Amino acid sequence: MKTQSIGIFDSGIGGTSIWKEITSLLPHENTIYLADSKNAPYGEKSAEKIIEFSIKNTELLIEKGCKLIVVACNTATTNAIEILRNKYDIQFIGIEPAIKPAALKTITNSIGILATKGTLSSSLFSETSERFTSEIKVIEQEGKGIVALIESGRLASDEMTLLLHKYLNPMLKEQIDYLVLGCTHYPYLIPQIKKIVGENVKIIDSGLAVAKQTNAILEKYDLKNLTSDISKHQLYINKDKEVLENILKDVSIDYAVNKLEF
Ligand code: DGL
Repeated sequence: MKTQSIGIFDSGIGGTSIWKEITSLLPHENTIYLADSKNAPYGEKSAEKIIEFSIKNTELLIEKGCKLIVVACNTATTNAIEILRNKYDIQFIGIEPAIKPAALKTITNSIGILATKGTLSSSLFSETSERFTSEIKVIEQEGKGIVALIESGRLASDEMTLLLHKYLNPMLKEQIDYLVLGCTHYPYLIPQIKKIVGENVKIIDSGLAVAKQTNAILEKYDLKNLTSDISKHQLYINKDKEVLENILKDVSIDYAVNKLEF
């Protein structure tokens, strides 16, 4: 069991931002990553559809023998993780927008959250937000269109710059000092976002926290791979293989990208 892979899924290629954190913190672990790009963006789908896709991805990862599953998607976590946990006898780790650290650290008492519609409208998100932000101003913004651009390989495009200005400028007017990235696709935009928000706004994403939590769960359930074999990483995508290869072009570890219908 310990040498089995960690399974990771997202609506598309964005969850590789989490995959990178996991492979760097846990270099001896094997991984299997699913990019359900054919069905992206999840964020604009109904909760029922998001649950259906999450079940499909989970079953494929279980079929491939994964020992634990990381839901590397805020939208799938906030809409489906409870159902997955009740349905399958395997540990799940999810990702949610890091509202708490931003709310605790803000000095201007104003924070921004950029996430998908599916995440912002979920009850899990509302509960967390209500718990930590009653005393501060929270500017919630749906990142409509961003995931679709990333999934079509237009990460650094004029359309993206326009969208980012449209979504971030109102937050700057409200003097935010923390910006929470509530979607695993968005860490790829950090250089572009920094150019717009400047040095005074700190950007928070949950990638490293998820990798640390994965480590903690592996330890707790005695699932850590203790061999020193070179780890294997298989990434599967059900749409354009090149878009996934392109976003991983700076990754130095060995991995294989495969096209698969699922
Ligand atoms: N990467 C996902 C997230 O973290 C999903 C984005 C989408 O498919 O809309 O929310």
